Amino acid sequence: MSDGGTGPRTDAGTIARAHRDPGFCRFHTDHVVVLEWSAGTGWAEPSLEPYGAFTMDPAASVLHYGQSIFEGLKVFRQPDGSAALFRVGDHARRMARSAWRLAMAEMPTELFQRACAELAVADDAWIPGGPGQSLYIRPLMVANESELGLRDSARYRCMFLAYPVEPCFGRDFAPISVTTPGDLVRAVRGGTGEAKCAGNYAASLRARKEAVARGFHEVLWLDGLERRWVEELSGMNVFFVWRDASGVRLTTPECRGTIVRGITRDCLLTLARDAGIPVSQEPTSIDALVDGATSGRLVEMFACGTAAVVVPVGRVATDGHDVTVGDGREGPVTARLRDALTGIQHGVRPDRHGWLRNVRNDLASVRTGTHR
Ligand SMILES: Cc1ncc(COP(=O)(O)O)c(C=O)c1O
Repeated sequence: MSDGGTGPRTDAGTIARAHRDPGFCRFHTDHVVVLEWSAGTGWAEPSLEPYGAFTMDPAASVLHYGQSIFEGLKVFRQPDGSAALFRVGDHARRMARSAWRLAMAEMPTELFQRACAELAVADDAWIPGGPGQSLYIRPLMVANESELGLRDSARYRCMFLAYPVEPCFGRDFAPISVTTPGDLVRAVRGGTGEAKCAGNYAASLRARKEAVARGFHEVLWLDGLERRWVEELSGMNVFFVWRDASGVRLTTPECRGTIVRGITRDCLLTLARDAGIPVSQEPTSIDALVDGATSGRLVEMFACGTAAVVVPVGRVATDGHDVTVGDGREGPVTARLRDALTGIQHGVRPDRHGWLRNVRNDLASVRTGTHR
């Protein structure tokens, strides 16, 4: 690993200010880990470099054909002062699946984990330790071949960026409001909906812009064929809490290629089962959502993702309806699951599922080749 860690470092006062009020990705750290891939030679060694702009040829294939994928994962300060990556192997495998879908180079899990650990160690001073805070790592890979022609690129550049953050909707987890997107759709089966590719987010921005102009926080996407089945938000999965005579039940839409397989979603399914809450991955129509909110059977709804953590959804507007979920405030199941998740992330609850990886141990083991 070439070490560009000797570049100018941010002064302690600025880092302290970033820790006091990080917002979401307002402050980048001092470094970036860069990995280049080219056909024939494969992946080069990761290189730790000072954060900064880089040059790109206007013919670079990402600019024309859109081969661009990314991930988002977090490093948490632990009670003993160490730092731990959360479910880094799962993020690495999802990035490789996104790469496969866009015919890009798939990065081996060990290399991805090593890049994250190198960055977290180099920028350790940036990892905040306040409640709800973390270091957000954004791995980004773009096609970088400088020659026009509609084919998969022969060169890729992967960059790992980092930012001290708080949950993207704020630290108080106030309920958000969502609206369906009219005629627009985000994904169809067989398309790229499951991949974390830039094009999915570009395709979501028109609806989001209009939703925000109407006073909503986010778009609630429906399936692309019938525009009937609830899928996800533009950057989060959704869950429903239903109540009937036998108690409460948690549901979330199935992953059938049109939604991102959220790692937070997977954690919450696991934690709900651990807590004895019945869970099911099943389709929910927008009509059932509206009926449930109106009749009181749908008692809670929440959205989840690495950036937002777990945030209640208090209001849902559709073509023709505008309903409040429960009493519009956060419900007990939402709060309980978020507490269970964040307790593990911050090291104050036992990590029974092995989701945390100490960054220094991780680095030592990948460097000596003893990595699992
Ligand atoms: C479209 C979309 N859905 C769901 C998620 C939630 O995924 P995760 O919990 O792995 O962050 C994300 C965020 O990555 C996303 O962009």
